[in-house]
Amino acid sequence: MVKSYVDPAKQLARIKQREFIQKNLLPFKRPDQIYVLCFPGAENEGEEALEYFEIYKPLGIPPQNITGLEMDPEKCQRLRDLNLGLNVVCQEDIHFLEQAKTLRMEWDIISLDYTWYFQPKSMYTIDLITNDRLMSNTGVLVTNYLGRRDSSESQDLVGRFHKTSNPIPLNMFSFQNAPHEILETPGYTAKVTYGTNNTITQDLQMMVETQSNVPFNLKDNKSETISIAVQTLMSSGKFALDFSALHPWSHLSPEETLVSYLDLIHDDTQPEHETMLEDYNCAYGRSPKEKISSAFRETFMNLFLLGGLHGGIKPFDLFLYGFVHMRPYFLEAHEAYRYISNNGSPMLIDFGLFKTHENRLNRFQNYLLINQTPEQCIIRVEAHETSFERMMKRDAIVQEMVPELGRKAKMFYLESDTTHATSERIFLGSSARADSRIEIPATDYALPPPPSKVTYTQRVLNKKSRKKKKRKKKKNRR
Ligand SMILES: C[S@@+](CC[C@H](N)C(=O)[O-])C[C@H]1O[C@@H](n2cnc3c(N)ncnc32)[C@H](O)[C@@H]1O
Repeated sequence: MVKSYVDPAKQLARIKQREFIQKNLLPFKRPDQIYVLCFPGAENEGEEALEYFEIYKPLGIPPQNITGLEMDPEKCQRLRDLNLGLNVVCQEDIHFLEQAKTLRMEWDIISLDYTWYFQPKSMYTIDLITNDRLMSNTGVLVTNYLGRRDSSESQDLVGRFHKTSNPIPLNMFSFQNAPHEILETPGYTAKVTYGTNNTITQDLQMMVETQSNVPFNLKDNKSETISIAVQTLMSSGKFALDFSALHPWSHLSPEETLVSYLDLIHDDTQPEHETMLEDYNCAYGRSPKEKISSAFRETFMNLFLLGGLHGGIKPFDLFLYGFVHMRPYFLEAHEAYRYISNNGSPMLIDFGLFKTHENRLNRFQNYLLINQTPEQCIIRVEAHETSFERMMKRDAIVQEMVPELGRKAKMFYLESDTTHATSERIFLGSSARADSRIEIPATDYALPPPPSKVTYTQRVLNKKSRKKKKRKKKKNRR
């Protein structure tokens, strides 16, 4: 069977994508101000750039605002020959994205319509987007992954996200801070001793053990975990490929930390050497520092959290500090769908509206002051001029941001009643022929998008069905 993206179930997913952008992005941006990065596709002659024709063109986004990536040279040439005005780039996404920051590129919509599984490479793509700020302050990220039983590498990755996204109740930790009211007035000094002590190490072991005991069943948990993985990766912000953003309570400078990790990895007399070396070798990054950040991000994050909490920083303040330095992309709206394509592949597609809340976070720049002494790190919460309380009274936007930040803080490890802001995955149907039970009625996918009367896919489908009828007629005549 010839592979083709003229596919009713995929077309339904495109319609959902167009509606999501219309509902969530167009209220903030004019179509001619929206820039897109996508894989337009050109599987067969006459099927070029379906994503552009079905999603962006009907929304009024001009072709010159669209960067179309295509790593297959033949398909790339087909797209170029079409002369639509799209900026067509013949490159694999990660190589292109690795350089995008130096070229000062930024998009409002990034649509990664893959034909493969969620795997370490996919994680790196999102790391580059969030670390290098490749999406604008308000943007839509679309991911589409193959949902079939896959390689053990990919299963391990999805399983790890499932386990570590399970929150641990605060009362399981040994630090003394009770969870405080989010709106409580701050104004205190905390002292964080450098390095780990026994209680931190115990808490760290407890976290790792608790999480490793979380059951993971690929069939039941995969689809939900993909949504959580994308959301979690986007929320890493500048921390995705740079651990120094979250390294305030270490007596080592970021450069010294890097050297100590590299020494540990390569020292085969150390018990942890082998697994660490394997993690490091599997990690993606443009430099040893990026690879270390990516391979050991959970450890860095846990040490940041536990070091801070043990030193007496209240959870909310700790997260606020983290967010000011990490600059996460916060998930604001989410939809998830699955469908079975015409070649029988189950696909998992997620749409997320992300915002950085850059201006709001800027107001908290001096809220937590850190003074590093030779023995410990002293943190003063509440900067004199921009005191938290005064800011609250003065600025309604900050007030709005505080519960929002509190909600996000809870999404990490700190509360047991956490629910992720992700939506349930909805089944759109199947276009696989053998699967006639769930065939999609033609009227569902043939709905013409505004303002064009007939969709591009519909035109191709009509043309194909006319040809088929002609052939049948000819055969009958004979
Ligand atoms: C699923 S198809 C795109 C379909 C299209 N978006 C549509 O709606 O019909 C993916 C296309 O992107 C290309 N592609 C897949 N992964 C890619 C990557 N990582 N970088 C660049 N191109 C990629 C494939 O060769 C293929 O032509």
